[in-house]
Amino acid sequence: MQSAEKTVVVLGTGGTIAGTAISGSAEPSRSYLAAQLGVDVLTAHVATFTSTYLETEQVCQVDSKDMSFALWRTLTERVAHHLARTEVQGVVITHGTDTLEETAYFLQRVLAPRKPVVLAAAMRPATALLSDGPQNLLDAVLVASSEQAHGVVAVLAGQVHSGLQVRKVHSHRLTAFSSGDAGVVAQIHEGRLQCYRAWPQSAANSRAWDWQRLPEKAVDWPWVEIISSHAGADARTVQALLQMGVKGMVVAGTGNGTVHCDLEAALEVAQAQGVRVWRSSRCLSGTVNLKVEACAPAAQSLTPCQARVELMLSLLP
Ligand code: SIN
Repeated sequence: MQSAEKTVVVLGTGGTIAGTAISGSAEPSRSYLAAQLGVDVLTAHVATFTSTYLETEQVCQVDSKDMSFALWRTLTERVAHHLARTEVQGVVITHGTDTLEETAYFLQRVLAPRKPVVLAAAMRPATALLSDGPQNLLDAVLVASSEQAHGVVAVLAGQVHSGLQVRKVHSHRLTAFSSGDAGVVAQIHEGRLQCYRAWPQSAANSRAWDWQRLPEKAVDWPWVEIISSHAGADARTVQALLQMGVKGMVVAGTGNGTVHCDLEAALEVAQAQGVRVWRSSRCLSGTVNLKVEACAPAAQSLTPCQARVELMLSLLP
């Protein structure tokens, strides 16, 4: 039975979860186009397995590698709009896996919602012989309609990851996501949530955000780049970015956030010119050393992508 008192809104953005095999392909799991099926089609597939009333809205239809600031702003506005409706218990966002960790981190930091906002994705397209999308979407609806759930999370392969820690750690396994050292928030087992730690909540965030501060034009977002420290790293990368007017740089450093000596000097020059520089790590998990003598402040346990979002937000007027 459907009841408007327990409504979950499913916002479609594209991704492999909405992908379909390229016609004639002998490999339906690998040879496909992302972002082909509408969110209403994906949702109709799972609606018969839940008593929650599902409303759908197609926000965009993209391969998430092409996610943009404009889409982030639109998505944030649509999520905020639906969360403000009293009958809405939570929001699900179908999303590609490739930039899911960025969108999840961004939405949690900007909206820090009390109601659940659940990103659902898939590693295999909808037309694969064993597609993971329908189960992941159904699990996401379960989380979004749960009284226990709060904040922005991602649900894949039966695991609930906090939007503040989720990261993609494998290019093709169904279990492609991790929460790093923090571990998962919950698991879905036999249609129930088993919770292990606190959900991401507004109280965990130091800064209250008004999403309307997000610039409408991409050019007005602070330009922050990720650069990598590696064997033979070259200071000219930093110098070129400085010349082009970069506002911030996140260094994906080696190990616990160390930086090649040839980059260090250039990064010190950048900071002297007012460019913000943070150190993160190329490692999949762990934290960065807090040495005060290091060439730049540590982004602690944020991945380079998450640190970039955080640095951009801190640079917004
Ligand atoms: C995408 O990120 O949109 C494509 C890849 C995926 O969803 O797994």
